[in-house]
Amino acid sequence: MKETVGRGRWASKAGFVLAAAGSAVGLGNLWKFPYMAGENGGAVFVLVYLLILVLIGMTVMLAELTVGRHTQLDALGAYKKLSAKWAWVGGMGVLCAFLIMAFYTVVGGWAIKYFIGSFASAAANIDFVGFITAPVEPIIYTLIFCLLTWVIVFYGIGGGIEKASKIMMPLLFIFIIIIAIRSCTLPGAGAGLDYYLNPDLSKINGGVILAAMGQVFFSLSLGMGCMITYGSYLDRNSSLTQSAWMIPALDTGVAFLAGLAIFPAVFAFGMQPDAGPGLMFGILPQVFAQMPAGTFFAAIFFLLVIFAALTSAISLLEVVTAYFVDEKAIKRSGASIIGILGIFILAVPCSLSMGSLAGVHIIPEIAAMNIPAMGFFDAFDFLTSKVMLPLGGLLLCIFVGWVWGTDNAINEITDGGFSSFSLAGIWSVLVKFVAPIAIFLVFLSGFGVI
Ligand code: PHE
Repeated sequence: MKETVGRGRWASKAGFVLAAAGSAVGLGNLWKFPYMAGENGGAVFVLVYLLILVLIGMTVMLAELTVGRHTQLDALGAYKKLSAKWAWVGGMGVLCAFLIMAFYTVVGGWAIKYFIGSFASAAANIDFVGFITAPVEPIIYTLIFCLLTWVIVFYGIGGGIEKASKIMMPLLFIFIIIIAIRSCTLPGAGAGLDYYLNPDLSKINGGVILAAMGQVFFSLSLGMGCMITYGSYLDRNSSLTQSAWMIPALDTGVAFLAGLAIFPAVFAFGMQPDAGPGLMFGILPQVFAQMPAGTFFAAIFFLLVIFAALTSAISLLEVVTAYFVDEKAIKRSGASIIGILGIFILAVPCSLSMGSLAGVHIIPEIAAMNIPAMGFFDAFDFLTSKVMLPLGGLLLCIFVGWVWGTDNAINEITDGGFSSFSLAGIWSVLVKFVAPIAIFLVFLSGFGVI
């Protein structure tokens, strides 16, 4: 996205929505949402997710886009411009981007392995656990994923990627629908639908709510300045309010369909829904095996997964690169190299933590706070999704609500009263009170304090 970071503009409104949706829709929807739901009670997780999406997710999305469009700067610069004391919150976002990329590129690598694997024989024949616990092979795939991401950012071909996503994203949508139909019509699928859609409210607890909140932030690319950066490329006659509900709606649609593709099959094949990060990789190849031209479907599907993962990964590397360019005055080429190198160095222990480093815990168990012992992969995931992103969102709400002020924000949203924002009053209350307090309470209950 060289042309946009040179303080460009989105060529069209669709270009922005596509890029922002490209950042949002990724492994978070296809890989993470289903396994998080599976680990947290199924339908009850989906229900809590939707509640948090509407109350907090959309509120924060609008706040981030607004700060971005107003300041026309990257995350750190935006905070700095409005209040120098707050620049560190933008800095935390950059750190977040590093940590997310460290495990994101590992999973991106797994997707490449499955794509290639579906040509070689059938993806269903890949021994998932054997593969991810191996010392060398997954790291090679991680490296390939890193290089792909870097090439796109380095050569500034984000624009081309955006154009390609006009074809790839709808194709992904259609594919998941086809897979979901196959999955839902397998014998024994009903139990999966029940698990996924019929909430058992007795399963709600602090851990489930924190997991759902973290997933909302992760999936919408919120809480770390990504949407501030994207908003900064918008010009004045773009509708912020429309984007703030359209991107979440699209994102949630894809995540919901991914669950619909996975859970019925999980139950039909007598597998466990709480299998964790291997869920998508373990289940979908089995579904493809039940389809005519399954190998062909599998190959195209994993290609689309890689594509979705790349459009998210470039937005993450972009945050890191823009930081080095804007704040450290490093040339874009050098900045993107430093960024991806740092990310790859962190990704290696993440990948190894699946196998040879499995016993090395960088976060020790803190039973009183519901924190299990974690290796690199899980620790980075935990620190970003369950701590840093929601914290970034909480701080952003306080910042917009109380420091910059909702009057200024609403002025930006309505172009100085020129366009209408009928929910302005409700949004103010959400930003100033409801969202920050809710995030705070979820932290307290998730960490066992209340
Ligand atoms: N939203 C992306 C996904 O769901 C991940 C992401 C998180 C991207 C944070 C940018 C910022 O895959």
